[in-house]
Amino acid sequence: MQKVICQTDDLAPGEMLEAEFDGRPVVICRASDGEFHAFTNLCPHQGAPLGKGKLCGAPEPTDQIGEYNYQNEGNILRCPWHGREFHIKDHGRMLANPKYKLREYKLRVEDDTVTLYK
Ligand code: FES
Repeated sequence: MQKVICQTDDLAPGEMLEAEFDGRPVVICRASDGEFHAFTNLCPHQGAPLGKGKLCGAPEPTDQIGEYNYQNEGNILRCPWHGREFHIKDHGRMLANPKYKLREYKLRVEDDTVTLYK
C-alpha cells in the first residue's frame, strides 16, 4: 500500500502537515535539514493531534549545573496539549523518557513527491 501525501514544496523546513494513511491519522514533519519524517498523529500521552503542536528546539543540559543550551531547532515535535517533546530525527524518541517513541511510518521522496508506504 502506498499513498502520495504532498509535494516537497508544500512544506518548508520546520513545518508539518496532517494527513491520513491506511485509515489512521499521521503527521508529516519536515526537519531543519529538509528531510521528511512521518509519525502517528496521536500523542502517546492522551491522544492529542501532534500536528497541531509545533516543531521547535529544546533545552539540553550542559556541564554546568542549571545551564542549558537550546538545540535542535525545527527537529523537536512538541505536543499541543501538555508539551511532551519528541525528536523527529531520532525516530520520534520522547525527550523526557527515551523508552517511548512515536510510531514512525515509512516515507519516500521521489521527483519532489512525498509518498507513505508499507
Ligand atoms: S496529550 Fe500530548 S503531552 Fe499530553
